[in-house]
Amino acid sequence: PASAAPVGPDDLAIGGVPLTKLADRFGTPAYVLDEDEVRHRCRAYLRAFPDAEVYYAAKAFLCRAMVRWVQEEGLGLDVCSAGELELAVTTGFPPERIVLHGNAKSPADLRAALRLGVGRIVIDSTSEIARLAAAVPAGSRQKVLIRVVPGIAAGGHAKIRTGTDDQKFGLSIADGSAQHAIARVLGQPRLELTGLHCHLGSQITTVKPYLSAVRRLIGLLARVREHHGVTLPELDLGGGHGVAYCPGEPALDLASLGTKIRAELAGGCAAAGLPVPRLAVEPGRAIAGPAGVVLYRVLSVKRTGSHTFVAVDGGMSDNPRPALYGVRYAPRLVGRASAAAPEPVTVVGRHCEAGDVLAPDAQLPGDIRPGDLLAVPVAGAYHLSMASGYNLVGRPPVIAVTEGRARLLVRRESLADIQERDIGM
Ligand code: LLP
Repeated sequence: PASAAPVGPDDLAIGGVPLTKLADRFGTPAYVLDEDEVRHRCRAYLRAFPDAEVYYAAKAFLCRAMVRWVQEEGLGLDVCSAGELELAVTTGFPPERIVLHGNAKSPADLRAALRLGVGRIVIDSTSEIARLAAAVPAGSRQKVLIRVVPGIAAGGHAKIRTGTDDQKFGLSIADGSAQHAIARVLGQPRLELTGLHCHLGSQITTVKPYLSAVRRLIGLLARVREHHGVTLPELDLGGGHGVAYCPGEPALDLASLGTKIRAELAGGCAAAGLPVPRLAVEPGRAIAGPAGVVLYRVLSVKRTGSHTFVAVDGGMSDNPRPALYGVRYAPRLVGRASAAAPEPVTVVGRHCEAGDVLAPDAQLPGDIRPGDLLAVPVAGAYHLSMASGYNLVGRPPVIAVTEGRARLLVRRESLADIQERDIGM
């Protein structure tokens, strides 16, 4: 990861703490987060997007400490459930700096949002409009944005592309449902339409699709003014900024993204005779991902005719991403020096299915053996937040490191925790 530094020929440190020490103290598997790296990434966003609202996308990773870091760094928060919202607000996050998303917000989600006073709710379907308006107390107005589908294909995998009409999110510009929803919202006295939103997808590594989105959304802002005489003051371009998981992979360049989006927005608005709306972005992965490492202990090494299977004490329950999206990771041996040449191995998990593969094409020293410690970089986003209870193994703990000190943020899910919830017979 950006933050792991060598502390000798055979070990790496994160936040100044050797990974071997963390594994000894907290056990494995374990997620380790570099607090300084998270904060540094928040600051890089504020520099790249001055004057914009930067909402950290909580779905990538959330715990109370993360809420506090993001708040202290001056970011807003994007949540998509009452669970994320309640965790943030009970930690002290200001609700007016929170935006609520969801293609199917439950009555409980909407009740929590209105009760706690979230700043913005992003409308994702026509049916949601009347339902939301009816829930807003008389005499008050809820600020909303409308999520539109601009018809732009971008994103690292089909399952995380959301800019085209063949997926469930948002309201299409092409078929007119976005325009229809805009008219409906403008007719609701308890809703205040502050702007448009779009999220193209995730793990996008080039700037171009964002610029196309800016152009399409300016076009729609212009039509809204023409048809309704309303100038919408906000434009939220979502998240999706890609990071490198393995050496040599591309990552989206933040500074260039910020500069080019602002230029496109300024030029497009000037041409359309519109004032420049206040910009918002919603990065998740690019803030949390590279700041995290997951530690595993090797439990078995099996050499077959065609493969070397290195099995670790975690797997698809703590990282479903390789199984879901076929993505690559670059595990590393830590804790002992090896003179053996690297060999291609398949790093697999402990779960009861053959698809439980963490890294199909890893390179590890040929003398890899049970008891070895492996570190998998770029594990801060969409690991714990997508962890499951498969095989009742319990979810790993989250440890924060900073300035040479480590502390437990989220404790390991114990077998007692799991059994406690099972109350029927
Ligand atoms: N805003 C909205 C409305 C979103 O739906 C998302 C992600 C984000 C922001 C943040 O996107 P990011 O900057 O993190 O790419 N589980 C998948 C990623 C799913 C992303 C879902 N929405 C993965 O592990 O790659």
